Amino acid sequence: MHDKITVRDLIKKKGKEKIAMVTAYDYAFARLVDEAGVDAILVGDSAAMVVHGLSSTLPIDMDTMLLHVSSVARAKPRALVIGDMPFLSYEVSTEEAIRNAGLMLKAGADAVKLEGGAEQADKIKAMVKAGIPVMGHIGLTPQRYLVLGGYRKRGKRIVEAEKIIEDAKALEKAGVFAIVIEFTAAEVAKIITEEVSVPTICIGSGPYCDGQVLVLHDLLGINTEIPPFAKKYADLRSIVVNAVKRYVDDVRNSVFPADEHYFHMKDKDYKELVKRLSKQI
Ligand code: KIV
Repeated sequence: MHDKITVRDLIKKKGKEKIAMVTAYDYAFARLVDEAGVDAILVGDSAAMVVHGLSSTLPIDMDTMLLHVSSVARAKPRALVIGDMPFLSYEVSTEEAIRNAGLMLKAGADAVKLEGGAEQADKIKAMVKAGIPVMGHIGLTPQRYLVLGGYRKRGKRIVEAEKIIEDAKALEKAGVFAIVIEFTAAEVAKIITEEVSVPTICIGSGPYCDGQVLVLHDLLGINTEIPPFAKKYADLRSIVVNAVKRYVDDVRNSVFPADEHYFHMKDKDYKELVKRLSKQI
């Protein structure tokens, strides 16, 4: 039995050991990814798209995210569980941000993640003061894809790169324990990783971060389309489709269920049953 990974353990890994984080949205997969040895499980708002089939992360709400967080937490993973704050759960006011983040912890998360840079600093400070560990998320922030003009690469131009670096520093100052850097030029992620004291976790931002994160459905090959920066480590889609096809064939051909999949009454009880039923007619 290993000790539970804490926010402190992740911070201590900076510069020493790479951090492996992956998303999971339910009990079953949380158990599997934990058994595989990940350091952190992100209950991402990507659930909106990969689990619920929505076209962006904007529609997912707190109640749905809390269901996913509690399902993951029930797996009692060794990995740190991070609940992703959905769109509009933290932007409106500091009070709402603290209350909603608190609900994530009550549902079983060990920490929360929210998107945005310097503009979120005051809220993050207040959340940390309230005892809530916060992970930042900069670069491509999918909850702001409408303002950004799509799921665009970030930090290729100098002015944009400078802003992302400033955001990272503001998050560090506000008290985050780690920062996700999404779809940002590798050089920018490298500078941030060298300049902040907390771990950086990359997705589509190159190899220089302190760790990496992938969406589980991309990694397992459940989705047909995956982002250019994701790597497919398995083809679960074809494994699932083939298994279910074989099941469908077996049912249609009366191959399933076989003898070992069902049970019988005692012969004498069956005969008695038939006798009783025949008397009722
Ligand atoms: O929701 C999510 O899966 C994320 C990752 C892409 C970092 O925020």
